[in-house]
Amino acid sequence: MSLLNNDKKHYDVIIIGAGAAGLFCAFELGQSGKSVLVLDNGKKAGRKILMSGGGRCNFTNLYIEPGAFISHNPHFCKSALARYTQWDFIELVLKHNIAYHEKTLGQLFCDDSAEDIVNLLLTECDAGGVEIALRQTITSIEQLSDNYFNVISNERSITAHHLVVATGGLSMPGLGATPLGYKIAEQFGLYVYPTRAGLVPLTLHKPLLEQLAKLSGIAVPSIAQAKDGTSFRENTLFTHRGLSGPAILQISNYWHEGDAISLNLLPDGSISNILVDAKAKHPQQQLKTILSHSLPKRLVELMIDMKLLPEMTMAQLSLSQIENIDRLIHQWEIKPNGTEGYRTAEVTLGGVDTNCLSSKTMEVKSVKGLYFIGEVMDVTGWLGGYNFQWAWSSAHAAAEAI
Ligand code: FDA
Repeated sequence: MSLLNNDKKHYDVIIIGAGAAGLFCAFELGQSGKSVLVLDNGKKAGRKILMSGGGRCNFTNLYIEPGAFISHNPHFCKSALARYTQWDFIELVLKHNIAYHEKTLGQLFCDDSAEDIVNLLLTECDAGGVEIALRQTITSIEQLSDNYFNVISNERSITAHHLVVATGGLSMPGLGATPLGYKIAEQFGLYVYPTRAGLVPLTLHKPLLEQLAKLSGIAVPSIAQAKDGTSFRENTLFTHRGLSGPAILQISNYWHEGDAISLNLLPDGSISNILVDAKAKHPQQQLKTILSHSLPKRLVELMIDMKLLPEMTMAQLSLSQIENIDRLIHQWEIKPNGTEGYRTAEVTLGGVDTNCLSSKTMEVKSVKGLYFIGEVMDVTGWLGGYNFQWAWSSAHAAAEAI
């Protein structure tokens, strides 16, 4: 990291937030000859990156496409994603000799550590002469004239021609998340969509939670479906707080208070076919024995305890009971009572209205020189490297324009 010049008072660009988007934008600008200062409230740069992907950072996805991003303006992300793609970031990763692998569904992870990605960004920042000031508390931001901003922190007062807001979302306050970006947007008259936790476990009402407690720790391959029909095929994990696992985190982005979600617990088969066949071939066997061949035994036992399944032999099972079991196993409706919130959420839905921004440059249409990049805006990706790709792509769009 370039030595911080405490006497310097003016930069071409000030970036607020030394996270994924901020550091990426900083190094591209620095390497294009701009003087850049990045301000961050933390004692370390890239703290979320370090925590990401279970410490291995799922830095992009082979199958990035605009349909994997949620926004009130679904077209907004297209231009930036097309101009800096997953292949561009992979090239950068290769340039730094970072070993990586595809885990599942196109998700690319570092072989060793997420620290490799932070080091990549910091090395590139260094090459661009970027200055990074940590432990900064921003107290005031003012536009002095067109393309001229004054930022005051606990330690310094600086001016710049361009101000880039890369403060991320509200998830994981312990990692430095604050609403500063939304406040800056509002200060400049931009609309901010209400925010909510995304990619987050869902919680259950106490009676259901107590019943499902016996399943805690069980992961079931499933298709989770939201009310609007969006569905994800991945594992659902039962926990002592409710539902988690990749299928649930994905569907949480589409879940709204009061909605039920539907779980298909046997995505690869038809339970009615299995039961009709077993009824003919093994009439003396217990229903629970037959079901336990296809589903976790603890789940079957719990469903019997909950009186969702009858306890009887296959011979006793009627066709209408088979239909009911089919609905239960392929469309189990569960009504969460909430989410675990920002404390454990990976992302924040909502944020700065993209209609206020240029999709080519990320510049605020009504304020020359002011930019928003990354998660602070109303663009949220699926689980699987999509959110980092948005950070890289939106940062690139702004850097190219400045
Ligand atoms: P980011 O949050 O990275 O950076 C914002 C920066 O602004 C932070 O450094 C923060 O300290 C700073 N800041 C905030 N308020 C400030 C203030 N008031 N003053 C000064 N600085 C301030 N995504 C993905 O694609 N693959 C993955 O594997 C994961 N894994 C993952 C795990 C966990 C635990 C979390 C919480 C999140 C993920 N994500 C993820 C999501 C991903 O981390 C996220 O979308 C990006 O980091 C967003 O990049 P930004 O630069 O926009 O914000």
